[in-house]
Amino acid sequence: MDFFDVIKNRGSYRGEFEKGSVPQEDLDLILEAGVRAPSGLNMQTTTFYAVTDEKLRKRISEVFPTKAVETAPVILVITSKLVYAGESQMQFEIEDYSAATENMLLAITALGYAGVWMDGMMRFEGNVDRMRQILSIPEDENIRTIVPFGKPVDPVTQKEKKPIEERAHIL
Ligand SMILES: Cc1cc2nc3c(=O)[nH]c(=O)nc-3n(C[C@H](O)[C@H](O)[C@H](O)COP(=O)(O)O)c2cc1C
Repeated sequence: MDFFDVIKNRGSYRGEFEKGSVPQEDLDLILEAGVRAPSGLNMQTTTFYAVTDEKLRKRISEVFPTKAVETAPVILVITSKLVYAGESQMQFEIEDYSAATENMLLAITALGYAGVWMDGMMRFEGNVDRMRQILSIPEDENIRTIVPFGKPVDPVTQKEKKPIEERAHIL
């Protein structure tokens, strides 16, 4: 798919996914898109888990009981580490994981899949702890978001955006 079509076709998909697994080569491309994202001072604070195991996915769907999580063949879990660097002790973990998540969503779209960035749901009390326990994620990794994805059963639409003139300016 042309890059600019990928940008236009990406949409948050919360519906049902088709049954069947995602081929390893597609999973590798999506994970590589995450790994290749830019990061502040190239600190690469982000870690990626692609959960394909049925039992683990079932346990995650008990934390996030939504159609997308319940039916997705893959649930990406993205974590970040708080690392201070340089003389001014800068840290970029939020920016790093956000750039990586968007890169992966674009890769997901380019390969004909759909998914949704579910970060808000992670913030409900207890959800991070439950996810840490299910996946044995180390304490020094902050669990940021999950992205359930797969082949969508229903059409994918991107939410309407405000007119470009309202938000972008060429000076
Ligand atoms: C930081 C962030 C957190 C989000 N958290 C959630 C979430 O918890 N649940 C959800 O269904 N969608 C979540 N979304 C998806 C947004 O709702 C979605 O991107 C927005 O409505 C625009 O729709 P579009 O992605 O189709 O353009 C999140 C998106 C971002 C960037």
